[in-house]
Amino acid sequence: MLTTRAAVVEAPGAPFTVHEVTLDDLRPGEVLVRMVAAGLCHTDLGVQLGGIPFPLPGILGHEGAGVVTKVGSAVTRVAPGDRVLLTFTSCGRCANCRGGHPAYCATWVPSNLITGQRDDGSHTVHRDGRPIGAHFFGQSSFAQHAVADERSVVKVDPQAPLELLAPLGCSVQTGFGAVWNVLAPRPGSTLAVFGAGAVGLSAVMAAHLLPLAAIVAVDRVPHRLDLALELGATHAIDTETDDLAKALAGITGGRGLDHAVETTAVPGLLRAAVDALGARGSCAVIGAPPAGTEVSFEVQSLLTGKRILGVTLGDGEPETLIPQLVNLHREGRLPLDRMVRHYRLDELDAAAAAMHRGEVIKPVLRF
Ligand SMILES: NC(=O)c1ccc[n+]([C@@H]2O[C@H](COP(=O)([O-])OP(=O)(O)OC[C@H]3O[C@@H](n4cnc5c(N)ncnc54)[C@H](O)[C@@H]3O)[C@@H](O)[C@H]2O)c1
Ligand SMILES: [Zn+2]
Ligand SMILES: [Zn+2]
Repeated sequence: MLTTRAAVVEAPGAPFTVHEVTLDDLRPGEVLVRMVAAGLCHTDLGVQLGGIPFPLPGILGHEGAGVVTKVGSAVTRVAPGDRVLLTFTSCGRCANCRGGHPAYCATWVPSNLITGQRDDGSHTVHRDGRPIGAHFFGQSSFAQHAVADERSVVKVDPQAPLELLAPLGCSVQTGFGAVWNVLAPRPGSTLAVFGAGAVGLSAVMAAHLLPLAAIVAVDRVPHRLDLALELGATHAIDTETDDLAKALAGITGGRGLDHAVETTAVPGLLRAAVDALGARGSCAVIGAPPAGTEVSFEVQSLLTGKRILGVTLGDGEPETLIPQLVNLHREGRLPLDRMVRHYRLDELDAAAAAMHRGEVIKPVLRF
Protein backbone atom coordinates (compact mmCIF):
# COMPACT_ATOMS: atom_id res chain seq x y z
CA MET A 1 0.00 0.00 0.00
CA LEU A 2 1.27 3.43 -0.98
CA THR A 3 -0.06 6.85 -0.05
CA THR A 4 -0.03 9.44 -2.82
CA ARG A 5 -1.81 12.62 -3.95
CA ALA A 6 -4.49 12.62 -6.63
CA ALA A 7 -7.01 15.02 -8.20
CA VAL A 8 -10.49 13.76 -7.29
CA VAL A 9 -13.85 14.71 -8.83
CA GLU A 10 -16.50 14.26 -6.11
CA ALA A 11 -19.69 14.30 -8.22
CA PRO A 12 -20.85 15.26 -11.74
CA GLY A 13 -20.03 18.93 -12.33
CA ALA A 14 -17.74 19.22 -9.28
CA PRO A 15 -14.20 20.63 -9.61
CA PHE A 16 -10.94 18.69 -9.35
CA THR A 17 -9.60 18.77 -5.78
CA VAL A 18 -6.31 17.26 -4.62
CA HIS A 19 -6.49 14.63 -1.86
CA GLU A 20 -4.31 12.05 -0.20
CA VAL A 21 -5.29 8.54 -1.38
CA THR A 22 -4.00 5.01 -0.84
CA LEU A 23 -3.02 2.77 -3.73
CA ASP A 24 -3.69 -0.96 -3.45
CA ASP A 25 -0.85 -3.51 -3.62
CA LEU A 26 0.04 -4.58 -7.16
CA ARG A 27 -1.67 -7.60 -8.69
CA PRO A 28 0.51 -9.91 -10.83
CA GLY A 29 -0.30 -8.05 -14.11
CA GLU A 30 0.06 -4.49 -12.80
CA VAL A 31 2.80 -1.88 -12.59
CA LEU A 32 3.33 1.06 -10.28
CA VAL A 33 4.11 4.26 -12.19
CA ARG A 34 5.52 7.49 -10.75
CA MET A 35 3.84 10.08 -12.93
CA VAL A 36 6.00 12.68 -14.66
CA ALA A 37 3.25 14.19 -16.81
CA ALA A 38 -0.41 13.64 -17.73
CA GLY A 39 -2.47 15.23 -20.52
CA LEU A 40 -6.01 16.52 -20.03
CA CYS A 41 -8.36 15.25 -22.79
CA HIS A 42 -11.89 16.39 -23.53
CA THR A 43 -13.06 12.90 -22.51
CA ASP A 44 -11.91 13.60 -18.91
CA LEU A 45 -14.12 16.70 -18.97
CA GLY A 46 -17.01 14.69 -20.45
CA VAL A 47 -16.81 12.38 -17.41
CA GLN A 48 -16.34 15.27 -14.97
CA LEU A 49 -19.54 16.87 -16.27
CA GLY A 50 -21.47 13.60 -16.01
CA GLY A 51 -21.94 13.03 -19.78
CA ILE A 52 -19.86 9.84 -19.80
CA PRO A 53 -20.65 7.26 -17.08
CA PHE A 54 -17.96 6.67 -14.41
CA PRO A 55 -18.30 6.18 -10.63
CA LEU A 56 -17.61 9.39 -8.68
CA PRO A 57 -15.91 10.33 -6.44
CA GLY A 58 -13.17 9.19 -8.75
CA ILE A 59 -9.78 9.86 -10.31
CA LEU A 60 -9.60 10.59 -14.06
CA GLY A 61 -6.60 11.05 -16.36
CA HIS A 62 -5.79 8.73 -19.25
CA GLU A 63 -2.74 10.29 -20.92
CA GLY A 64 -0.18 9.50 -18.25
CA ALA A 65 3.59 9.39 -18.72
CA GLY A 66 6.09 8.36 -16.10
CA VAL A 67 8.64 5.98 -14.68
CA VAL A 68 7.92 2.41 -13.57
CA THR A 69 8.90 1.98 -9.93
CA LYS A 70 7.61 -1.53 -9.24
CA VAL A 71 6.10 -4.42 -11.23
CA GLY A 72 3.74 -7.28 -10.40
CA SER A 73 5.03 -10.87 -10.41
CA ALA A 74 3.72 -11.69 -13.92
CA VAL A 75 4.79 -8.49 -15.72
CA THR A 76 7.15 -8.97 -18.68
CA ARG A 77 6.71 -5.79 -20.78
CA VAL A 78 8.51 -3.40 -18.45
CA ALA A 79 10.87 -3.31 -15.46
CA PRO A 80 11.53 -0.75 -12.69
CA GLY A 81 13.26 2.32 -14.13
CA ASP A 82 11.61 2.08 -17.56
CA ARG A 83 10.00 5.24 -18.92
CA VAL A 84 6.48 4.61 -20.14
CA LEU A 85 3.52 6.27 -21.83
CA LEU A 86 0.13 5.20 -20.54
CA THR A 87 -2.84 4.41 -22.76
CA PHE A 88 -6.07 2.39 -22.66
CA THR A 89 -6.18 -1.17 -21.35
CA SER A 90 -7.55 -4.33 -22.99
CA CYS A 91 -7.80 -8.03 -22.16
CA GLY A 92 -5.34 -9.29 -24.80
CA ARG A 93 -7.30 -12.51 -25.19
CA CYS A 94 -10.61 -11.77 -26.98
CA ALA A 95 -11.08 -12.01 -30.76
CA ASN A 96 -10.60 -8.27 -31.40
CA CYS A 97 -7.50 -8.10 -29.18
CA ARG A 98 -6.01 -11.13 -30.96
CA GLY A 99 -6.92 -9.55 -34.31
CA GLY A 100 -4.93 -6.38 -33.55
CA HIS A 101 -7.95 -4.23 -32.58
CA PRO A 102 -7.65 -3.88 -28.78
CA ALA A 103 -9.69 -0.64 -28.81
CA TYR A 104 -12.65 -2.92 -29.55
CA CYS A 105 -11.79 -5.40 -26.78
CA ALA A 106 -14.79 -7.36 -25.50
CA THR A 107 -14.28 -5.81 -22.05
CA TRP A 108 -13.23 -2.32 -23.23
CA VAL A 109 -16.10 -0.32 -21.72
CA PRO A 110 -16.08 -1.91 -18.22
CA SER A 111 -12.26 -2.10 -18.04
CA ASN A 112 -11.57 1.47 -19.19
CA LEU A 113 -14.63 3.43 -18.24
CA ILE A 114 -17.77 2.59 -16.39
CA THR A 115 -16.80 0.36 -13.46
CA GLY A 116 -13.90 2.37 -12.00
CA GLN A 117 -12.42 -0.86 -10.67
CA ARG A 118 -10.43 -3.92 -11.73
CA ASP A 119 -12.15 -6.65 -13.76
CA ASP A 120 -12.41 -8.80 -10.60
CA GLY A 121 -14.39 -6.06 -8.84
CA SER A 122 -11.60 -4.95 -6.51
CA HIS A 123 -10.48 -1.33 -6.24
CA THR A 124 -7.05 0.12 -6.98
CA VAL A 125 -7.55 3.28 -4.89
CA HIS A 126 -9.09 4.08 -1.49
CA ARG A 127 -9.59 7.38 0.33
CA ASP A 128 -10.11 7.42 4.09
CA GLY A 129 -10.57 3.66 3.95
CA ARG A 130 -13.36 3.78 1.34
CA PRO A 131 -12.93 2.76 -2.32
CA ILE A 132 -13.21 5.49 -4.98
CA GLY A 133 -13.55 5.29 -8.77
CA ALA A 134 -10.18 4.68 -10.43
CA HIS A 135 -8.59 2.29 -12.96
CA PHE A 136 -9.79 4.86 -15.57
CA PHE A 137 -8.32 3.62 -18.89
CA GLY A 138 -6.36 1.15 -16.73
CA GLN A 139 -4.48 4.05 -15.07
CA SER A 140 -6.23 7.12 -13.48
CA SER A 141 -3.14 9.25 -14.07
CA PHE A 142 -4.19 12.53 -12.40
CA ALA A 143 -2.10 11.36 -9.44
CA GLN A 144 1.52 11.36 -8.42
CA HIS A 145 1.52 7.55 -8.57
CA ALA A 146 -0.82 5.10 -10.27
CA VAL A 147 -1.44 1.38 -10.32
CA ALA A 148 -1.61 0.65 -14.06
CA ASP A 149 -2.45 -2.44 -16.07
CA GLU A 150 0.58 -3.87 -17.84
CA ARG A 151 -1.38 -3.65 -21.11
CA SER A 152 -1.91 0.09 -20.66
CA VAL A 153 1.80 0.93 -20.49
CA VAL A 154 4.13 1.26 -23.47
CA LYS A 155 7.89 1.47 -22.90
CA VAL A 156 9.61 4.38 -24.62
CA ASP A 157 13.14 5.56 -25.15
CA PRO A 158 14.89 6.74 -21.91
CA GLN A 159 15.48 10.16 -23.55
CA ALA A 160 11.84 10.61 -24.63
CA PRO A 161 10.47 13.99 -23.35
CA LEU A 162 7.52 12.67 -21.34
CA GLU A 163 6.09 16.12 -20.59
CA LEU A 164 5.45 16.62 -24.33
CA LEU A 165 4.68 13.02 -25.29
CA ALA A 166 1.97 12.30 -22.67
CA PRO A 167 -0.88 13.11 -25.13
CA LEU A 168 0.22 10.25 -27.41
CA GLY A 169 -1.72 7.90 -25.12
CA CYS A 170 -5.10 9.23 -26.26
CA SER A 171 -5.57 12.39 -28.36
CA VAL A 172 -2.61 12.05 -30.69
CA GLN A 173 -3.00 8.30 -31.14
CA THR A 174 -6.71 8.86 -31.83
CA GLY A 175 -6.20 11.49 -34.54
CA PHE A 176 -3.32 9.65 -36.21
CA GLY A 177 -5.03 6.27 -36.01
CA ALA A 178 -8.29 7.58 -37.47
CA VAL A 179 -6.41 8.82 -40.54
CA TRP A 180 -3.70 6.16 -40.93
CA ASN A 181 -5.50 3.03 -39.70
CA VAL A 182 -9.18 3.64 -40.34
CA LEU A 183 -9.61 6.01 -43.30
CA ALA A 184 -6.23 5.18 -44.91
CA PRO A 185 -6.72 7.80 -47.65
CA ARG A 186 -5.33 7.10 -51.12
CA PRO A 187 -2.78 9.50 -52.60
CA GLY A 188 -4.51 12.47 -54.19
CA SER A 189 -7.68 12.24 -52.11
CA THR A 190 -9.34 14.97 -50.05
CA LEU A 191 -9.88 14.98 -46.28
CA ALA A 192 -11.61 17.44 -43.95
CA VAL A 193 -11.08 17.51 -40.19
CA PHE A 194 -13.98 18.95 -38.18
CA GLY A 195 -12.62 20.45 -34.96
CA ALA A 196 -9.06 21.73 -34.58
CA GLY A 197 -8.52 20.61 -30.98
CA ALA A 198 -5.85 18.14 -29.91
CA VAL A 199 -7.50 15.20 -31.71
CA GLY A 200 -8.34 17.15 -34.87
CA LEU A 201 -4.90 18.75 -35.13
CA SER A 202 -3.35 15.30 -34.70
CA ALA A 203 -5.47 14.13 -37.63
CA VAL A 204 -4.21 17.14 -39.62
CA MET A 205 -0.58 16.26 -38.79
CA ALA A 206 -1.20 12.62 -39.77
CA ALA A 207 -2.77 13.71 -43.07
CA HIS A 208 0.10 16.13 -43.75
CA LEU A 209 2.50 13.16 -43.83
CA LEU A 210 0.49 11.62 -46.71
CA PRO A 211 0.31 12.81 -50.36
CA LEU A 212 -3.24 14.21 -50.27
CA ALA A 213 -4.81 16.74 -52.62
CA ALA A 214 -6.46 18.80 -49.87
CA ILE A 215 -6.55 18.82 -46.06
CA VAL A 216 -9.34 21.05 -44.78
CA ALA A 217 -9.59 22.18 -41.15
CA VAL A 218 -13.01 23.27 -39.83
CA ASP A 219 -13.39 25.14 -36.52
CA ARG A 220 -14.86 28.33 -35.06
CA VAL A 221 -11.74 29.56 -33.24
CA PRO A 222 -9.54 31.57 -35.65
CA HIS A 223 -6.20 30.91 -33.90
CA ARG A 224 -6.87 27.16 -33.93
CA LEU A 225 -7.48 27.37 -37.68
CA ASP A 226 -4.23 29.34 -38.09
CA LEU A 227 -2.36 26.59 -36.24
CA ALA A 228 -4.02 23.92 -38.40
CA LEU A 229 -2.70 25.74 -41.49
CA GLU A 230 0.80 25.82 -39.97
CA LEU A 231 0.61 22.09 -39.19
CA GLY A 232 -0.29 21.11 -42.74
CA ALA A 233 -3.91 21.97 -43.51
CA THR A 234 -4.26 23.38 -47.03
CA HIS A 235 -7.58 25.13 -46.33
CA ALA A 236 -9.37 26.45 -43.25
CA ILE A 237 -13.10 27.01 -42.81
CA ASP A 238 -14.47 29.15 -39.95
CA THR A 239 -18.03 28.01 -39.18
CA GLU A 240 -18.78 31.40 -37.59
CA THR A 241 -18.14 33.34 -40.79
CA ASP A 242 -18.05 30.91 -43.74
CA ASP A 243 -20.78 28.89 -45.47
CA LEU A 244 -19.45 25.42 -44.61
CA ALA A 245 -21.23 23.39 -47.32
CA LYS A 246 -20.41 25.91 -50.03
CA ALA A 247 -16.77 26.18 -48.99
CA LEU A 248 -16.31 22.38 -48.99
CA ALA A 249 -18.02 22.09 -52.38
CA GLY A 250 -15.69 24.75 -53.73
CA ILE A 251 -12.56 23.00 -52.44
CA THR A 252 -13.56 19.62 -53.92
CA GLY A 253 -14.74 21.05 -57.24
CA GLY A 254 -18.28 19.91 -56.43
CA ARG A 255 -17.28 16.23 -56.12
CA GLY A 256 -17.58 16.07 -52.35
CA LEU A 257 -15.00 14.91 -49.81
CA ASP A 258 -13.29 11.53 -49.95
CA HIS A 259 -12.84 11.56 -46.16
CA ALA A 260 -14.01 13.43 -43.07
CA VAL A 261 -12.91 13.19 -39.43
CA GLU A 262 -15.51 14.50 -36.96
CA THR A 263 -14.06 15.61 -33.61
CA THR A 264 -16.33 18.49 -32.53
CA ALA A 265 -19.03 16.23 -30.98
CA VAL A 266 -21.59 18.71 -32.37
CA PRO A 267 -24.48 16.69 -33.91
CA GLY A 268 -25.12 19.26 -36.65
CA LEU A 269 -21.49 19.10 -37.73
CA LEU A 270 -21.54 15.29 -37.95
CA ARG A 271 -24.57 15.66 -40.23
CA ALA A 272 -22.73 18.34 -42.24
CA ALA A 273 -19.62 16.15 -42.55
CA VAL A 274 -21.63 13.21 -43.90
CA ASP A 275 -23.59 15.51 -46.25
CA ALA A 276 -20.27 16.87 -47.59
CA LEU A 277 -18.94 13.41 -48.54
CA GLY A 278 -18.75 12.47 -52.19
CA ALA A 279 -19.65 9.06 -53.61
CA ARG A 280 -17.87 6.28 -51.62
CA GLY A 281 -16.66 8.87 -49.13
CA SER A 282 -16.13 7.89 -45.51
CA CYS A 283 -16.52 9.77 -42.23
CA ALA A 284 -14.70 8.75 -39.04
CA VAL A 285 -16.79 9.66 -35.98
CA ILE A 286 -14.59 10.50 -32.98
CA GLY A 287 -16.26 13.33 -31.06
CA ALA A 288 -18.21 11.98 -28.08
CA PRO A 289 -21.37 13.99 -27.23
CA PRO A 290 -23.31 13.13 -24.02
CA ALA A 291 -24.76 9.59 -23.88
CA GLY A 292 -28.10 9.36 -25.69
CA THR A 293 -27.30 11.99 -28.37
CA GLU A 294 -28.79 11.14 -31.78
CA VAL A 295 -28.13 12.45 -35.32
CA SER A 296 -30.35 11.90 -38.35
CA PHE A 297 -29.30 11.43 -42.00
CA GLU A 298 -31.14 11.76 -45.29
CA VAL A 299 -31.21 8.10 -46.24
CA GLN A 300 -31.06 8.43 -50.03
CA SER A 301 -27.92 10.57 -49.69
CA LEU A 302 -26.16 7.59 -48.08
CA LEU A 303 -26.87 5.26 -51.01
CA THR A 304 -23.91 6.61 -52.97
CA GLY A 305 -21.62 4.28 -51.04
CA LYS A 306 -21.02 6.61 -48.10
CA ARG A 307 -19.60 5.07 -44.95
CA ILE A 308 -19.88 6.33 -41.36
CA LEU A 309 -17.36 4.70 -39.03
CA GLY A 310 -17.29 5.13 -35.27
CA VAL A 311 -13.71 5.06 -34.00
CA THR A 312 -12.22 4.43 -30.56
CA LEU A 313 -8.63 5.53 -29.88
CA GLY A 314 -7.77 5.39 -33.60
CA ASP A 315 -8.25 1.61 -33.71
CA GLY A 316 -4.52 1.18 -33.22
CA GLU A 317 -2.31 -1.28 -31.45
CA PRO A 318 -0.57 0.97 -28.90
CA GLU A 319 2.66 -1.02 -28.58
CA THR A 320 3.10 -0.57 -32.34
CA LEU A 321 1.72 2.93 -32.98
CA ILE A 322 3.02 4.82 -29.93
CA PRO A 323 6.74 4.08 -30.57
CA GLN A 324 6.22 5.15 -34.22
CA LEU A 325 4.79 8.45 -33.00
CA VAL A 326 7.69 8.88 -30.54
CA ASN A 327 10.08 8.45 -33.51
CA LEU A 328 8.17 11.01 -35.57
CA HIS A 329 8.49 13.48 -32.70
CA ARG A 330 12.25 12.86 -32.44
CA GLU A 331 12.58 13.50 -36.18
CA GLY A 332 10.79 16.85 -35.80
CA ARG A 333 7.72 15.69 -37.75
CA LEU A 334 5.28 15.78 -34.83
CA PRO A 335 5.50 19.30 -33.33
CA LEU A 336 3.56 18.63 -30.13
CA ASP A 337 5.10 21.70 -28.50
CA ARG A 338 2.78 23.77 -30.71
CA MET A 339 -0.29 22.59 -28.79
CA VAL A 340 0.92 21.78 -25.24
CA ARG A 341 0.78 24.11 -22.22
CA HIS A 342 1.93 22.88 -18.80
CA TYR A 343 0.04 23.03 -15.49
CA ARG A 344 0.40 21.66 -11.95
CA LEU A 345 -1.87 18.95 -10.49
CA ASP A 346 -3.74 21.56 -8.41
CA GLU A 347 -4.38 23.70 -11.52
CA LEU A 348 -6.63 21.22 -13.36
CA ASP A 349 -9.71 23.47 -13.11
CA ALA A 350 -7.81 26.39 -14.62
CA ALA A 351 -6.53 24.08 -17.37
CA ALA A 352 -10.07 22.85 -18.11
CA ALA A 353 -11.42 26.41 -18.18
CA ALA A 354 -8.69 27.50 -20.63
CA MET A 355 -9.54 24.49 -22.79
CA HIS A 356 -13.26 25.35 -22.71
CA ARG A 357 -12.50 28.94 -23.70
CA GLY A 358 -10.53 27.58 -26.65
CA GLU A 359 -7.29 29.24 -25.45
CA VAL A 360 -5.28 26.11 -24.71
CA ILE A 361 -5.35 23.10 -26.98
CA LYS A 362 -3.61 20.47 -24.86
CA PRO A 363 -3.04 21.08 -21.15
CA VAL A 364 -0.43 18.71 -19.71
CA LEU A 365 0.17 18.35 -15.97
CA ARG A 366 3.78 18.30 -14.85
CA PHE A 367 4.39 16.53 -11.54
N1 LIG B 1 -13.43 8.27 -29.94
C1 LIG B 1 -12.34 8.35 -29.20
O1 LIG B 1 -11.64 7.37 -28.97
C2 LIG B 1 -11.94 9.66 -28.61
C3 LIG B 1 -10.63 9.86 -28.15
C4 LIG B 1 -10.27 11.13 -27.69
C5 LIG B 1 -11.20 12.14 -27.66
N2 LIG B 1 -12.49 11.88 -28.07
C6 LIG B 1 -13.48 12.96 -28.16
O2 LIG B 1 -13.11 13.73 -29.28
C7 LIG B 1 -13.55 15.05 -29.11
C8 LIG B 1 -12.42 16.03 -29.39
O3 LIG B 1 -11.47 15.99 -28.34
P1 LIG B 1 -10.41 17.17 -28.22
O4 LIG B 1 -9.60 16.86 -27.01
O5 LIG B 1 -9.72 17.41 -29.50
O6 LIG B 1 -11.41 18.38 -27.87
P2 LIG B 1 -11.31 19.92 -28.17
O7 LIG B 1 -12.38 20.58 -27.39
O8 LIG B 1 -9.91 20.40 -27.99
O9 LIG B 1 -11.64 20.02 -29.74
C9 LIG B 1 -12.92 20.21 -30.26
C10 LIG B 1 -12.85 21.34 -31.30
O10 LIG B 1 -14.13 21.47 -31.90
C11 LIG B 1 -14.37 22.84 -32.10
N3 LIG B 1 -15.81 23.09 -32.16
C12 LIG B 1 -16.73 22.87 -31.19
N4 LIG B 1 -17.95 23.29 -31.60
C13 LIG B 1 -17.78 23.78 -32.85
C14 LIG B 1 -18.65 24.37 -33.82
N5 LIG B 1 -19.96 24.52 -33.55
N6 LIG B 1 -18.14 24.76 -35.01
C15 LIG B 1 -16.83 24.59 -35.26
N7 LIG B 1 -15.94 24.05 -34.39
C16 LIG B 1 -16.42 23.65 -33.22
C17 LIG B 1 -13.74 23.52 -30.91
O11 LIG B 1 -13.45 24.89 -31.17
C18 LIG B 1 -12.48 22.68 -30.70
O12 LIG B 1 -11.37 23.24 -31.38
C19 LIG B 1 -14.16 15.10 -27.71
O13 LIG B 1 -15.57 14.93 -27.84
C20 LIG B 1 -13.54 13.91 -27.01
O14 LIG B 1 -14.36 13.44 -25.96
C21 LIG B 1 -12.86 10.68 -28.55
ZN1 LIG C 1 -9.81 -8.07 -25.47
ZN1 LIG D 1 -8.85 10.98 -24.38
